[in-house]
Amino acid sequence: MPPVPDKTPGDTSWFVHDRFGLFIHWGLYALAARHEWVKNREKIRDEDYEKYFKHFDPDLYDPNLWAAEAAGAGMKYFVVTTKHHEGFCLWDSALTEYKSTRTPCAKDLLTPMVEAFRRQGMKVGFYHSLIDWHHPEFPIDGTHPRRDDEDALEKNKTRDVRKYADYLYGQTRELLTQFGHLDVMWFDFSYPNQLHRGMRGKGKDDWQSERLYKLVRELQPQVILNDRLDLPSGWDMKTPEQYQPREWLQVGGKPVVWEACQTFSGSWGYYRDEYSWKSTELLIHMLIDTVSKGGNLLLNVGPTGRGEFDARAIDRLRGMGQWMKRNSRSINGCTASDFTPPPDGRYTQNGKRLYLHLFAWPFQHVHLPDLAGKIEYAQFLHDASEVHYKEMDPHAEVQNMTQRGQPGTVTLHLPIVKPDQAVPVIELFLK
Ligand code: GLC
Repeated sequence: MPPVPDKTPGDTSWFVHDRFGLFIHWGLYALAARHEWVKNREKIRDEDYEKYFKHFDPDLYDPNLWAAEAAGAGMKYFVVTTKHHEGFCLWDSALTEYKSTRTPCAKDLLTPMVEAFRRQGMKVGFYHSLIDWHHPEFPIDGTHPRRDDEDALEKNKTRDVRKYADYLYGQTRELLTQFGHLDVMWFDFSYPNQLHRGMRGKGKDDWQSERLYKLVRELQPQVILNDRLDLPSGWDMKTPEQYQPREWLQVGGKPVVWEACQTFSGSWGYYRDEYSWKSTELLIHMLIDTVSKGGNLLLNVGPTGRGEFDARAIDRLRGMGQWMKRNSRSINGCTASDFTPPPDGRYTQNGKRLYLHLFAWPFQHVHLPDLAGKIEYAQFLHDASEVHYKEMDPHAEVQNMTQRGQPGTVTLHLPIVKPDQAVPVIELFLK
């Protein structure tokens, strides 16, 4: 039996079925177009960063198009940055003027987005930054743009993290009460052990995470809460970032619900001049690899300052959609399998259906250990064409044209030419 994580407070039942979601990082940094950490990396002052606020005008923004691209790619939920570390808010928060409604665009961008994705039948998640490089009460630390100012420590004397925690609490309350039923709450992030020029990092005591936690559970008890509030328990999922775990993630020796978050090109916000874009095929490999280890994939788009997904993102999303259209049965509803896949293969499983994904195309035969006597029928998933298989006699003599079988092994007979699928999938019906 594949692992089943212990039950946690939030409702993860839909999540471990759906497996594939869209992350959206959108804020003022889309105008800089060189990483969502640009303010930090280039140590930009508030007054200089202000030019992005003054020019933020996403006139081509149509969340229906975004939601349609996501649904077309086979994604089932989305998580959007309500506020990233720069502090800028996408909704009409009563607690700040640093929000989209005060820019030239003059609109609440979040409400129509939530509605558009819901219309596509997708679940709704909010990313909310714990860090805030704009709020005047947020004490400067090693992740802050002003970290290397001569007078950073001096400036901190007038900053009160408790006042910032109240702001964080109030905005979280807005997010949990003004947008209906929420499916995911994704806080980011804690770094209590960081130390920079005598300034310590921030964690649960600074955010008052216990209080935030109670608020979340009181207002949206079902919501899936991520693991970045610096709390030892209470979260529903782990969030490995920018790497593929080697195996099902465990905490304290026990398997947990997990979601890998990944980018197309390295940065999360729109980055015009980044050229490390992953191929569609690699992204499909990553999705399969994730599900084969019992996880979810949250794949990120950084929309442009005019409010569009750029052509490179659309190309990847549509490419994945092409594959998902015919192969999503090996993703949705699936989890890890106990069977050992052949080299360059990944298994996912949904009850009596076992899915073999072939990352490299072999010549004619693929040998599947431990499956002798267990298969009832085999077909390609994309076109339901039969795949012949044999349980070769382990005792048979080696002949010119066949090889002695391995005990317990099933050998699939494949066509010479790889089917026209980024990753061909063979659906094995188990007895
Ligand atoms: C990070 C980064 C960030 C990104 C994110 C996604 O820790 O700070 O820019 O939003 O995590 O996982």
